Amino acid sequence: MAKFIVEGGYPLVGTAKVSGAKNAALPILAASLICRGQIRLRGCPRLRDVDNMLTILADLGVCCAWEPNGGLTLDTADGVEYVMPQRISKELRSSIFMLGPLLARCGKAVCTYPGGCEIGNRPIDLHLSGLSALGVQIREERGLILCDGSAMRGADIHLDYPSVGATENIMMAAVAAKGTTYIRNAAREPETEDLQAFLNALGCDVSGAGTSSVRVNGGLPPKAYVQYDIMPDRIVAGTLLCGAAMTGGEITLNNVVPQHVGSMLSKLREAGCVIACGEKSVALRAPKRLGEIKMIETLPYPGFPTDMQAQFFSLATIADGICVIVENVFENRFKHGPELTRMGAIYTQKDRTTVIRGVKELTGAQVVARDLRGGAALTLAGLAATGITTIHEAELIDRGYERLDAMLCGLGAHVTREV
Ligand code: EPZ
Repeated sequence: MAKFIVEGGYPLVGTAKVSGAKNAALPILAASLICRGQIRLRGCPRLRDVDNMLTILADLGVCCAWEPNGGLTLDTADGVEYVMPQRISKELRSSIFMLGPLLARCGKAVCTYPGGCEIGNRPIDLHLSGLSALGVQIREERGLILCDGSAMRGADIHLDYPSVGATENIMMAAVAAKGTTYIRNAAREPETEDLQAFLNALGCDVSGAGTSSVRVNGGLPPKAYVQYDIMPDRIVAGTLLCGAAMTGGEITLNNVVPQHVGSMLSKLREAGCVIACGEKSVALRAPKRLGEIKMIETLPYPGFPTDMQAQFFSLATIADGICVIVENVFENRFKHGPELTRMGAIYTQKDRTTVIRGVKELTGAQVVARDLRGGAALTLAGLAATGITTIHEAELIDRGYERLDAMLCGLGAHVTREV
């Protein structure tokens, strides 16, 4: 079990390059099954979730290899197994993304019913109803989902909720469905645009990603070679900006799309940070004391991202005034609250709403990461706290951050990893 030992009181200062986006890499890795040939990805982050996805792909018959320069090559030319390995796909929520590409590649797919996870029960009804609309026959038995997609046809699909995963799964299946598919009320997250760009680089014909209506002209033959650069990770960027804000620091981040972090920058400015944006960079200078952020409501993009809720919860605990945070996306995403209380944070919570009263300072404590973003939030709190904070179960943080400890040390923090 990994631990982060954080000695607080050191401002984040300097420049860092943001890694490629986990939530773009995972669906793109799944989509690689659509190609029968070689894929070369640049900017794919080295994360536990990515490693798990590569293990699933290898089990299905894909040859995966990291290059010395950090690139990732996949060879999908040989036949691909359509039955997902149960052991690991339960652990990895995003294994459900494999359904669409397997149906596009093999015309059928068998996968496990992914369990719930630390932030909510994570249903997949929108994935399954979208695939059914394409003509996929779906049977569920003994925890398995058995899909026959041999007669997929384009369809006009309306999602009840703009689910990111369901939008992406349907996009990936629809490229092999004869005719045109429309996905209405689609998720608008930038990661869906990155998937669209990858699919089009493969020779597919997808348009509209990033808006509420995605169009797929299906049935085109995919190319046998593609090279693609993964987009920057907006949540990693937001996390580092929060850390600088909380420690009175001054940082510049490269490899950031400012538009993708707009809702976070707006809240950081409300707290008194001075922010300057370049074409692919963001620079932040923190105030001595963070001002009040009155309200944060998590919403689908371009609203405030749920994946940044925990980090801003940490920030609000040491800002002036009162901050109300409403978590509209997941039903159980405040597990970092009780851990922050150990450090001196003051808040109340009812259902999906917390009211945080900023305190003068936090004090170091022994805390436990309960989920990926909550673990990152506790690490940020440790940077700002007086004394030493130990974050247990820090391997959860490795699921979504490429060596967050090393990245923070590169900006002047004192973080030690103990395994
Ligand atoms: C993606 O999860 C991200 N994961 C999540 O990031 C992110 O928090 C989430 O989108 C929202 O932006 C990846 O991309 C790998 P959803 P996903 O489907 O696709 C409900 C992180 O920390 N829903 O948009 O699972 C669901 O219960 C992770 O990097 C249904 O009801 O998110 C939730 O309340 C965490 N039925 C809401 O929609 C469905 O069939 C949003 O889920 C699907 C979803």
